[in-house]
This record gives sequence, C-alpha cells and structure tokens, in this order.
Amino acid sequence: QQLPKAIIIGVRKGGTRALLEMLNLHPAVVKASQEIHFFDNDENYAKGIEWYRKKMPFSYPHQITIEKSPAYFITEEVPERIYKMNSSIKLLIIVREPTTRAISDYTQVLEGKERKNKTYYKFEKLAIDPNTCEVNTKYKAVRTSIYTKHLERWLKYFPIEQFHIVDGDRLITEPLPELQLVEKFLNLPPRISQYNLYFNATRGFYCLRFNIVFNKCLAGSKGRIHPEVDTSVITKLRKFFHPFNQKFYQITGRTFNW
Ligand code: A3P
Repeated sequence: QQLPKAIIIGVRKGGTRALLEMLNLHPAVVKASQEIHFFDNDENYAKGIEWYRKKMPFSYPHQITIEKSPAYFITEEVPERIYKMNSSIKLLIIVREPTTRAISDYTQVLEGKERKNKTYYKFEKLAIDPNTCEVNTKYKAVRTSIYTKHLERWLKYFPIEQFHIVDGDRLITEPLPELQLVEKFLNLPPRISQYNLYFNATRGFYCLRFNIVFNKCLAGSKGRIHPEVDTSVITKLRKFFHPFNQKFYQITGRTFNW
C-alpha cells in the first residue's frame, strides 16, 4: 500500500471519476476506488498519514497509486497538507467549460433533493442574485467554476510544472488523446490504446475495455441529463467566467474555447 504519486484534485463534475477509471486501464496505475477525503476533512486528517496509506490499494513497487477527491481543489487547507506529505507529487486537474460544470454540479444536488422528495430552487434562481441581477458569487457551483482563483492558492505551494490540466469536455468525446497526455505527464510508457475504449451508444459515452472478458461503463450517475437553463442566464455566466478563464489559460498554458 503506497502513498499516491499523483492525485486528481478536482474539479468536481469535471469528469474526475472517468479520468481515474480510464487511467486505471494502464497496467502501471492502481487506483484508490473510494474518494478518501483525507486532506479536506479535519477529522480524517487528524488520523495521520498511516491511516491514509492504509486506505490505498495493494500495488507492486513499479506501479503508481492514484486517488481522486475533487473537494481537494477548493478546500483552503489542502495544498499545504499535500505539500507536507510530498512536495514533488503530481497533481491532475480536469476541467470543463465552467457554466456547464456549474449546471452539472447543480444537477447532482438537485437529484439528491429529489431522492429525498424535497423541492429545490431552479438553477437560475441560485446563479443570479435577484436584487442585483448579477451573477451570484456566493453560490458554490459558481465559485467552484472560477478555476483560476483556486489554482492561485495551490501555486503558493507547488510550481505550475507539477500540475497537468485535463480537458474534461474532450475526455467525453475523444478520451484517448487526453489519456495519452496524462501518460506522458506521469512518465508512464504509453499503454492505453483505442482497444481499451469503446463508444457505447446506449450510454452515450465511452466505456472501458480492460481485456477480452472484462469491460465496464461508468455508473448511471455519471452523465446525467441537465435541466434546461434560460439562455440569458447562460450568456451572463459565460461573460462572467470569461476573464477568469483568460487568466487560467495564461497561468496553465492550456487554452480552451470558453
Ligand atoms: P454530467 O453528469 O454532467 O454529464 P465527476 O466524475 O467529476 O463527477 O464528473 C462527472 C462527469 O463526467 C459527467 O458529467 C460526464 O459528463 C463526465 N464523463 C466523462 N467521461 C465520461 C464517461 N466515459 N462516462 C460517463 N461520464 C463521463
């Protein structure tokens, strides 16, 4: 049970599960199946690093362990805590177009409420401040999508070279090239191939083929249908995120069309 050499630190709803499962196709990668929440949860963190290590899967010495806990990206204390464990750790961040990510985030919360037979606000009501008609920056789903703000906190501890940005929108439509970039970043020999990924028309997503007998798609909770959102609200959000996105491209050296 080895401590992780790489962590998928976020972003929530960016495609963190798909990324972890797809990287696990590589024979030299083992994954911690559960989100461990060691660095963001004070109670877990107080249990110490051995507790964390014991949560890791068994692996061979040549393999690397990866975990994902998307709450790490947005939690204040986490960069320093991870730095104290391993200052040269590799950090993966998977991002999506920020407005879509916010709606995906909302959809997950909405589903939770519906499961408990509770009613919930419409996305438009949460994302726009009714008094000012401006974007509501107090709404968590909005704040999480301001990627540059969070990344800047991380950069107080880690140089940008230790991060790799994964395009979560492309991971949906064309996963292989994104995975190949990650293999390179992790200094792994290229082993994931098109054979390992097949498009499942029923699911509408790529699924994973480990070998001739074992394949799987992600759970149904991945790839939810989003509610329709008022186009003026979408436009307002896109405009709001635009300058933050520009800064994010500048810092990371990876440009998207948001
Ligand atoms: P939606 O439910 O909004 O479509 P996370 O694992 O970080 O919660 O991210 C969930 C998102 O992963 C889903 O968001 C989905 O679009 C995306 N995703 C990417 N590749 C996928 C795949 N192969 N199968 C299912 N979902 C995938």
